[in-house]
Amino acid sequence: MTGRDRKPLLRVLGGERTERPPLWMMRQAGRYLPEYRAVRADAGSFLDLCYNPERACEVTLQPIRRFGFDAAIIFSDILIIPHALGVDLTFAEGEGPRLSPIGNQAGLDGLRETLDPGCTEPVYEAIRQVSAALPDPVTLIGFVGAPWTVATYMVAGRGTPDHIDARIWALRDPVGFGRLIDILIDASIEHLCGQIRAGAEVVQIFDSWAGELSAPEFDRWCVTPVRAIVDGVRARHRDIPVIAFPRAAGSKLRDFGERFGDVTIGLDTGEAPGGVAELLAPGIPVQGNLDPITLIAGGEALDRSVDMILEGFSDRPHIFNLGHGIRPQTPIDHVERLVRRVKG
Ligand code: CP3
Repeated sequence: MTGRDRKPLLRVLGGERTERPPLWMMRQAGRYLPEYRAVRADAGSFLDLCYNPERACEVTLQPIRRFGFDAAIIFSDILIIPHALGVDLTFAEGEGPRLSPIGNQAGLDGLRETLDPGCTEPVYEAIRQVSAALPDPVTLIGFVGAPWTVATYMVAGRGTPDHIDARIWALRDPVGFGRLIDILIDASIEHLCGQIRAGAEVVQIFDSWAGELSAPEFDRWCVTPVRAIVDGVRARHRDIPVIAFPRAAGSKLRDFGERFGDVTIGLDTGEAPGGVAELLAPGIPVQGNLDPITLIAGGEALDRSVDMILEGFSDRPHIFNLGHGIRPQTPIDHVERLVRRVKG
């Protein structure tokens, strides 16, 4: 058996059912950890932390040391790609991201043709350092945001509740908006391949805002671009496992599953195991989907939800995760309780 075959996460991504599901949490390196807050305070801004390989490596490893998760996800952000394309980016304390908005062809003409290595190289260096430091059975995950989700920030210049600016551009001028999506497809392939060359063993594509798209929009702006990224990456790295997370897709998960028989599908909190059985073919591996609010609540409610998920997905390859990122106010002993329960 090679080292790779022993890693539980890779086994599940390859379609195997394991005795207990491997476990990690989206946003597992973050503000709920005091050791993260300490490094973050030293680093200055969030972006300074992302672009400092030693510190990014350190915070990536923190949740592995504390909880013994089966996977590490490189500490970075989905908005590194717009930054690397030349968009101004800041994270205002307590307010989330701010970008110089792009709403037309002139805005697209102002983007760089290639990714700024000043933005991407620190990520690759952090990956090399994590890769060298990770315990043997732990898998390293690289990631990008899906084009639609990243575009919602690039068009509005910030997070927006209903992503109205991007949706309006896409509906009024699908050809123009499609150019932005194409730029993001190419950038995502480039950035994922860079992460894989540096040592990422799996890649996840976060389409956090896919849910509100109507069926035809979902096909055009979520399914098609994510498919293009998977194919583009696999043209260079044939066997790389991919996790796609079309968050809040609901019944559109069926269309998604039909086009992605070769990836693991990330499930958000809205999907119940019974419903998933109707939407996705039996062998397709899934990842998810504990509600992060249940993890804040803790106690019996947490135990019951964990058991339902363990039981509900026991008939297919399954990676235990949250249905969305962990919240900063989550008590650490609740995470410990979750880990004990999943690991049995
Ligand atoms: O999961 C991990 O531990 C790896 C790192 C990671 C971060 N962001 C670190 C981060 C990952 C995978 C992301 C993905 C990401 N970033 C998404 C998709 C996943 C999702 O949650 O839906 C999105 C939409 C973003 C964009 C983003 N980054 C926003 C809107 C914000 C501000 C809101 C917030 O949570 O503060 C960020 C900042 C951010 N990215 C933080 C972290 C740990 C908090 C920054 C801090 O320390 O102040």
